[in-house]
Amino acid sequence: MKLLEPLDINGMRLPNRVLVPAMVTRLSGEDGYVNQDIIDRYVRYAAGEIGLIVVEAMAVHTAKSGPLLRISDDAFIPGHQELTKRVHDTSGSKIVPQIIHFMKVARSGWRQTIDSLSHADIDQIVDEFGAAAARAREAGYDGVELHSAHAYTLSSFVSRLNPRADEYSGKTLENRLRMFGRVMARVRECVGTDFPVGARFLAEECIKDGYTVEDAKLIALRMAQLGVDYISLSVGGKFEDAVHREGEPLYPYTGYSGDRCMPGDWYSGLPHAHLVAEIKKFVNDHGFTVPVVSVGKISDPADAEQLLADGKADIIGMARQNLADPDWIKKVREGREDQIIRCIWCNVCKQLDENFKEVNCFLWPKGMRQAPADLPDAEAPLWPDKGANLGVALGEDGAARLTWDGAHGDIAGYDVYRADDDGTVKCIEAVKGKRFVDKTILGGRKHVYYVRAFSPGGVASVPSNSVTLEPPLPDFSSAPVSPPATAEP
Ligand SMILES: Cc1cc2nc3c(=O)[nH]c(=O)nc-3n(C[C@H](O)[C@H](O)[C@H](O)COP(=O)(O)O)c2cc1C
Repeated sequence: MKLLEPLDINGMRLPNRVLVPAMVTRLSGEDGYVNQDIIDRYVRYAAGEIGLIVVEAMAVHTAKSGPLLRISDDAFIPGHQELTKRVHDTSGSKIVPQIIHFMKVARSGWRQTIDSLSHADIDQIVDEFGAAAARAREAGYDGVELHSAHAYTLSSFVSRLNPRADEYSGKTLENRLRMFGRVMARVRECVGTDFPVGARFLAEECIKDGYTVEDAKLIALRMAQLGVDYISLSVGGKFEDAVHREGEPLYPYTGYSGDRCMPGDWYSGLPHAHLVAEIKKFVNDHGFTVPVVSVGKISDPADAEQLLADGKADIIGMARQNLADPDWIKKVREGREDQIIRCIWCNVCKQLDENFKEVNCFLWPKGMRQAPADLPDAEAPLWPDKGANLGVALGEDGAARLTWDGAHGDIAGYDVYRADDDGTVKCIEAVKGKRFVDKTILGGRKHVYYVRAFSPGGVASVPSNSVTLEPPLPDFSSAPVSPPATAEP
């Protein structure tokens, strides 16, 4: 299996091809120091044997922000040292920090833009990236990742909407790439050539007049020319289309580009994989073999394996799926795919991040701060003697209402499976309770359902009884009869 093949990245040997991309946890305080909760979060990924763990974005500078890790001063090094030691003591997982510079934002909705930066400010940012990368090396990280994606400073230079008018201006691609080039050169100076330096940037900006994959191919080529050791691709997440909430600083994932960055359950799977494949092919066709990470709504082992087998990616990045189940790759290796807790793309984690609350997963048992332990030999939940008693009813609103009796045992939730018109069975949702309303059925089709209860570690019951719903095609010949309007009190 390609997924399980090791990969060498400038001397950093990944035990497999799975990466957890940076995900802000809001587990640190505003002081930015590594604490026990942060260590627990990343050690949990290491226990799941994830090939490369990218630690959440941490600031290279001292600007004020909510809870966010920092690497902007030597005083932060001991905490990071403890983190890397604990991860390395746990498994063969490798760990790199994502280092970030961001501009100021205010509760009024105002945000600082890069045209306000003087040449001295730019020089300082370049130095800050270099110093932070050197600290990462000193702290025992296996490499470092430069954050040049989403709404932050480096990405704003690369953007097609870069508002500057000088040699860093948005007028030419070469000028847009100047800042990243300078940062990369300084980082190399500070960490040497034998320390892996990755870069994250956007395959598409997903905003009006933003750049598309056409520019992204050239940006990737430049990164390869500069000696970047791996490329991790994201999309969107921009300030330009962010929706301002009264009294809150702008959050760059509230608009359409935010939806694209963390695609919700209404998006089809692998929405960015074709962009990544195009970028990888372009870079490879130009003689570079820099590994490329594909990220975006990947959760099915067969899909992940296919991307690698087809040469569409070198590494599989899964953020929300690894949050939901850090043991994903371990379960794949041990042939326990049926125990994987599948991300349902509900984006509760995204909402927690947006509200500066500790990021956890809706699918974890209530109140847990970290993913539950992997207990492969746990007893599977059992249906009552009389069975699950799964039933389905068609509502007047055109939704299917499913109810069932609770299973016995340590239950974390229930997976709901559906097959349409006798086609492939898919897990369409996971819920905590004993009911589910399916709003996505279509009259004139046949839908067959069953549910399975699963334990916190993902051990599932046998399927419940199956039920079939064949909603008729609605009658469109007359207007629907609404219930009589009730007078306002
Ligand atoms: C809660 C949360 C925090 C995130 N924080 C970061 C971050 O610090 N840096 C970053 O580059 N991307 C961040 N992302 C984006 C993810 O790395 C990833 O690109 C995105 O979730 C899509 O991948 P997925 O479909 O596998 O979840 C974050 C995503 C989530 C859900």
